[in-house]
Amino acid sequence: MKTNNYRIPFNKPFLAGDELGHIAAAVQSGHLSGNGVFTKKAQHFFESRFSIPKCLLTSSCTDALEMAAILSGVGPGDEVIIPSYTFVSSANPFILRGATVVFCDSGDIHPNLDVNNLEQHITARTKAVVAVHYAGHACDMEGLLALQQRYGFMIIEDAAQAVDNYHVNGSGQKQVLGSIGAVGALSFHETKNVICGEGGALFINDVSLTARAEIIWEKGTNRSAFWRGEVDKYGWVDIGSSFLPSEVQAAFLTAQLENLERIQNKRLTILEQYTTQLASLKNLGVQLPERPAWSTENAHMFYLVLRSGDERDAFISFLKQHDIYPAFHYQSLHRSPFFAARYRGQTLPHADRYSGCLVRLPFYFSLSDDEIMYVCETVTNFFKR
Ligand SMILES: Cc1ncc(COP(=O)(O)O)c(C=O)c1O
Repeated sequence: MKTNNYRIPFNKPFLAGDELGHIAAAVQSGHLSGNGVFTKKAQHFFESRFSIPKCLLTSSCTDALEMAAILSGVGPGDEVIIPSYTFVSSANPFILRGATVVFCDSGDIHPNLDVNNLEQHITARTKAVVAVHYAGHACDMEGLLALQQRYGFMIIEDAAQAVDNYHVNGSGQKQVLGSIGAVGALSFHETKNVICGEGGALFINDVSLTARAEIIWEKGTNRSAFWRGEVDKYGWVDIGSSFLPSEVQAAFLTAQLENLERIQNKRLTILEQYTTQLASLKNLGVQLPERPAWSTENAHMFYLVLRSGDERDAFISFLKQHDIYPAFHYQSLHRSPFFAARYRGQTLPHADRYSGCLVRLPFYFSLSDDEIMYVCETVTNFFKR
């Protein structure tokens, strides 16, 4: 039983710099709605640091994916391939457009989609593939781009967890995640590396989509072009919604981006400690995170894949008894209450295994070395029982 005063939640939001000062400045500037100074600063940060042709901040990654779905032009009769082991927001935007979602399986050593499994799902109606970079680790983008060349679908990157991480191709060229597909979506939800409560961004890499993206972002109006003086009045020109965040979120996010290096370095030390202290669990048949060779590391999470669903449930209860609050993750979308009745596809064993057996350990900026050691000791004790 517990013998100390630790209480370790799964996540804790944090201040990395001048978040509160920036919010005050936004209020004092007299412009608190969207697309103000801080929105432009944050967008410019991504565009200049990662060579993104156009970045638009959004109120969430879900919103960024809804914009992506509109930009993809999919509708009834079109198919979009998505890994079943992902968050609902990877799929919902395409259902909202009336498209058919086709689920593919994850790989056996990594929850990312398995490019080899994906090919069999491609038909003449496949219009898009959503590449979800799980744990911030890059999908096999070279494999996916080769399929794209053959079949001609659009690639949408769901880089919700992948801020500041890269794919490295066979020639050693690095490309930041979110910049490889036609568009890429990021999340700044409070559980991510860089946060602003709720928030996201859409990277628009296919420049032929930029003008329409700005319109969709501004409720279907050409207001952005109006502010730039390109049109003499603005009006309703397309479908769209209110996808842009307020300056409060953008101000908070800007302070986090100013401290990106520090945040990422701290997270890398947390990951290293978990990796070192729990390495021996592999000998017991527990699956540990294995970064694919084509991915760099952004230390988004540390997970274990236990040997059965019952073992995972017992593990979570054991940790909770010791005031440590781990979290399981996605439930296979093809088995969800919303989708199961309409699912006609094959079994997706790896998606089901990760749904049943994967558990994430607490991981946040202010997690101390002592707390990590306490978590690791408790995890190790579970397997010694
Ligand atoms: C893979 C994936 N995509 C999209 C989202 C949605 O992000 P947001 O909460 O910013 O809308 C999440 C949420 O964590 C996610 O895990």
